Amino acid sequence: MIQELSYVGVASPHVDNWRSYGPGLLGAMVKPDGPAGAVRLALDDINHRISIHPGTADEFRYAGWGLANETDLRAYVEQLTERGVDIHWGDADLCREREVAELAWFCDPWGLRHELTWGKAATPNSFQPGRVMRGRFVTGDQGLGHVVFQVPDMNKANEFYADVLGFRLSDRIVNGYFNVRFYHINGRHHSLALAEFPGHVGFNHLMLEYENMDDLGRAIDLLERHDTEIMQSLGRHTNDLMTSIYITTPSSFQIELGHGGLVVDDLSWVARTYNKPSYWGHRFSSAARTRAPGILNPIE
Ligand SMILES: [Fe+2]
Repeated sequence: MIQELSYVGVASPHVDNWRSYGPGLLGAMVKPDGPAGAVRLALDDINHRISIHPGTADEFRYAGWGLANETDLRAYVEQLTERGVDIHWGDADLCREREVAELAWFCDPWGLRHELTWGKAATPNSFQPGRVMRGRFVTGDQGLGHVVFQVPDMNKANEFYADVLGFRLSDRIVNGYFNVRFYHINGRHHSLALAEFPGHVGFNHLMLEYENMDDLGRAIDLLERHDTEIMQSLGRHTNDLMTSIYITTPSSFQIELGHGGLVVDDLSWVARTYNKPSYWGHRFSSAARTRAPGILNPIE
């Protein structure tokens, strides 16, 4: 009953770099700081979508998932509790910080924190892109974008995310190098993907989608100005048909900037297995070969 990816939070020593990277490269809007100097970015009229909290290391903090309303949130929390998920209700301070009406959170089997919410605050007609843009970000009923996590054990991860949480499988990419599952919760082809990475848990990337191809092209033009490296070259994915690049951020995880992603109809959707991720492009750069693929931590 999760309806959307609503927001994402990380911690990083390089918080201040986001004040130019967010608006100047991505086109996001810088909003007033959160508590303790957290940088907050908006992508639409929702008050904020991305939070970078000051921290001593780059760290994934939370993904926020939106439910339709309070009735759905309570029913879902009850259902997860029955399945043995250890759920904690957020207090008023946490709800105020996230700008949601109510919040409950839990961790996955490897400690990745997920927040279930409803009633996220929006300010109509407030969004102003941080740089010249011809269109806007694709959000609305497709949510913020998608997140991709590395997990050490795909079977165990699928049991938790699909069987317990209810993420619906869109497809898989399986070959000698990849074992990745993609899940939808709304029309966006995937709001979540899990990549098997034995012995590790991590946050690989956040995908943001532009309505207009020119805004992706403009981001490519601006990479150098923002000291940002391409991790995977422009390419087109086989499964969600997204034309995209993968780039570094100031905080170790990557951002996929895309255009033209597939919208799925859950009533008729049948999961496939692909043997490669891209029709063309998405070549790993030399930078990609020397850096960790995101915020990646060994399992203790
Ligand atoms: Fe992606």
